[in-house]
Amino acid sequence: MATISTPAYLLDQAKRRLTPSFNNFPGMGLLERRLLKTEFPQRILAEPPAGSGLKPVTGDAGLPILGHMIEMLRGGPDYLMFLYETQGPLIFGDSPVLPAVAALGPDAAQIIYSNRNKDYSQQGWVPVIGPFFRRGLMLLDFDEHMFHRRIMQEAFVRSRLVGYVEQMDKVISQVIANDWVANDARFLLYPAMKELTLDIASMVFMGHEPGTDHELVTKVNKAFTITTRAGNAIIRTGVPPFTWWRGLKARELLENYFAERVKEQRAKEGDDLLSVLCRTEDEDGNRFSDEDIVNHMIFLMMAAHDTSTSTATTMAYNLAAHPEWQERCRDESDRLGDGPVDIESLEKLESLDLVLNESIRLVTPVQWAMRRTVRDTELLGHYLPKDTNVIAYPGLNHRLPALWTDPMKFDPERFTEPRNEHKRHRYAFSPFGGGPHKCIGMVFGQLEVKTIMHRLLRRYRLELPKPGYQPRWDYAGMPIPMDGMPIVLRPL
Ligand code: HEM
Repeated sequence: MATISTPAYLLDQAKRRLTPSFNNFPGMGLLERRLLKTEFPQRILAEPPAGSGLKPVTGDAGLPILGHMIEMLRGGPDYLMFLYETQGPLIFGDSPVLPAVAALGPDAAQIIYSNRNKDYSQQGWVPVIGPFFRRGLMLLDFDEHMFHRRIMQEAFVRSRLVGYVEQMDKVISQVIANDWVANDARFLLYPAMKELTLDIASMVFMGHEPGTDHELVTKVNKAFTITTRAGNAIIRTGVPPFTWWRGLKARELLENYFAERVKEQRAKEGDDLLSVLCRTEDEDGNRFSDEDIVNHMIFLMMAAHDTSTSTATTMAYNLAAHPEWQERCRDESDRLGDGPVDIESLEKLESLDLVLNESIRLVTPVQWAMRRTVRDTELLGHYLPKDTNVIAYPGLNHRLPALWTDPMKFDPERFTEPRNEHKRHRYAFSPFGGGPHKCIGMVFGQLEVKTIMHRLLRRYRLELPKPGYQPRWDYAGMPIPMDGMPIVLRPL
């Protein structure tokens, strides 16, 4: 039976509390409150062309060096709500690290995501994740992006998903039954979920059966974790031994690993994503080169991992906090029983779909979408010159009182007829993005988290560590519960 080691638990808790960040440094709360009241000197992004009738985007630079990082990293969507209410939908943040226009509200999101005039490129993501995820699908643009997307799409058709679900279920059932610790308030759901989604990826993405190739899988998973964290580095240059440099080294290891695996898998007929990418072709017979597959695999691992972890963690929390929803979802799971799951059976878990949507509405895994203008353009009557970074914020739109009734209340019924609050605006609800770059792994991710939840609900009752417990979220990257999210698993 799995147990928790007390020294390891205490060490982990100490690390969580003592690792300095904008969220736990003494005095940061006070500073944040003062900053919210400070009026910084206004500046404009650029003077609109004479006679254009456009308005300039205005804003400020915030603190020297830090810009508005403290308010943003501590407040996340709350800070954006404050900006939206006090300054409107377009705000220029002249930060020395990443000057950008925040484009808030669903109208701005619609224009940016749908990108009708091809004004916005994906190069806005490059300063954040470019060196670690170069030539991943999300970082490609226009015709080249469409070319790659059409080939990759073949790896996500329903007949392929059937195979992935079978493999996911195998790993999930094993880990939840054998590795997760019951009846212990020290069990931290978030790191356990992160490990689980890595185990799933090792099998479904890379074709390693659970328990095999342990040393290699551990090395690759470690490199992968370092790579995904590197984008948050404060010192953003490849100087040893800092995070950015470690990210570049880890990327090198991943490239070598995948290059070797591609050579092996080209000759095989496996059902894992890597093998499938080696064989997929579009309708005209175009295929990926070895180098393309390496780049796509590294990006896919990142795109799938923290997003699914975050979604499954918030869902489990909401089920523990709302026992009536937990019972409702368990009733549907009980009807499926303990046999192997497939896409059809998962589709019957309709209450779980509602909980999933409500969970990622309230805590949206991908809070923002980064773009860069490729020419001078106009957004909501404002002038944006070429090469402006523009950031849309679905994480804020999911909380706007104009779109959602009692937005901060957990109320999954809002997604059902006749309320259909998510249809009040085309971009009221866009946790998977929209337009040409809409998440290609949306169904894959939904099936993965539903399989996790189904197995959990069949085995355990989920309880909060204490009545009224609420996690605090760190919004530096994807939302992370700062305390690791203790959840008590009571065997049924
Ligand atoms: C369940 C959680 C997930 C969420 C919330 C999520 C969210 C998103 C969002 C918001 C985007 C668009 C970003 C943008 O427009 O800039 C995106 C793109 C993408 N996602 Fe996901 N994702 C999830 C799971 C997955 C999974 C499981 C995979 C792969 C198996 C995946 C692969 C991708 C890829 C490749 C792109 C880029 C698509 C393109 O540029 O054409 N995602 N995701």
